[in-house]
Amino acid sequence: MASMRWGLAILFLAACGDDGGSSAIDAATPIDMGVSIDAPVDANPNMPSTLADTGLCTNAACTTYAADVRVYAPQYELWSDGATKKRWIYLPPGTKIDTTDMNYWKFPVGTKLWKEFTRGGVRVETRFMLKVMENDATPGAWFFASYVWNTAQNATTEATPGGMQDANGTQHDIPMRAQCRRCHDNTPGRVLGVQALSLDFQGATGELDLDDLAAMNLLTTNPPGTAGAPRFPLPVNNGNGAVDKAAYGYMHGNCGGCHNPNSSIFATTTLDLRMDVTKLSSVTVMPARVTTVNVNGTVGGLTGPIVKPNDTANSVLITRMNIAAGTNGRMPEIGTEITDPAGLAALTAWINQPP
Ligand code: HEC
Ligand code: HEC
Repeated sequence: MASMRWGLAILFLAACGDDGGSSAIDAATPIDMGVSIDAPVDANPNMPSTLADTGLCTNAACTTYAADVRVYAPQYELWSDGATKKRWIYLPPGTKIDTTDMNYWKFPVGTKLWKEFTRGGVRVETRFMLKVMENDATPGAWFFASYVWNTAQNATTEATPGGMQDANGTQHDIPMRAQCRRCHDNTPGRVLGVQALSLDFQGATGELDLDDLAAMNLLTTNPPGTAGAPRFPLPVNNGNGAVDKAAYGYMHGNCGGCHNPNSSIFATTTLDLRMDVTKLSSVTVMPARVTTVNVNGTVGGLTGPIVKPNDTANSVLITRMNIAAGTNGRMPEIGTEITDPAGLAALTAWINQPP
């Protein structure tokens, strides 16, 4: 059984910590990401070499899924150049997510998450995260991998640590493992989409949302409020909650993983674009407003307001989103080549409202 093999692998890792291995997959070109490209613990040979081995599916083509994985989709998605995505989570039987800090959830050892990317109808890659050690901050506590699909769409091979440009004949790039970590290691729990605010909505039928997690008794502390209504209602500004929700939600999902008080990037800029469940009483206390509106930031050596109300042309935040991919200063820093038209429109409407 797959679950038994996993149990053993996890025990092995927990006991040995760093496997000290220096297999061929360590040999990628280092890039300047502020983190090492691949810690030896990441290169553990016991880690699965195909997607099917991770326990997501019961066949190599991954057309039939394991009974114990659940589908979910966050309401605030990461823009991935228009790719369609599917996501799954597995929690070991009898475990719960530690939601003592409702803003930053902590997952039990053995948790697995997957995200599949389809571009132009072609399954390109499926990303995988597995928690192997209790303390999220221990190097190697989380295993990150990406599996690239073959042309026939019936088998996968691991693409990490080096990633892959234009995978499977599409424009889609598979990130290097250092890039996984650049985005995921900047919140304490490492998981970015399975969290209170992103799941605080009525998910599609069969997809796990915050109410479901509470009803299934999978959270150590349940969110306030009752099922069927938002547990953490967002404030309504200027009589138009929709413009605010679109903008704050976009920043929460696309920027807040790097721009939050727990991020290593906070030492460089105190910009905070992640929503906080304790700061929703009014837009005037929301971090993404407090740290941007008429607050100076920089772009290309020039200083100016990060958000200048009614003036997107002079708002550093918009200027940075419009910088060409691969050029210094572009935001988000990595993970996209095409500026998100809907995201840009949402932020433009918010700045012109004005916020
Ligand atoms: C540009 C930043 C970025 C990069 C690079 C990135 N991720 Fe993510 N990832 C996110 C965000 C944000 C989410 C949550 C939003 C969503 O699912 O749309 C996410 C979601 C996931 C999920 C679902 C669980 C979760 O955290 O919500 C998995 C699994 C995952 N990523 C794995 C990886 C792996 C493996 C890599 C490297 C091969 C990687 N990611 C690279 C930002 C990133
Ligand atoms: C993968 C991490 C990452 C993500 C995701 C990210 N940023 Fe950044 N951002 C950085 C880093 C690092 C800096 C500081 C370096 C620099 O100035 O370019 C920065 C700087 C900035 C600044 C300048 C702040 C100042 O004080 O001058 C702005 C504005 C900004 N980001 C906006 C955004 C927006 C908007 C998003 C989402 C659409 C985003 N960022 C997503 C890493 C990220």
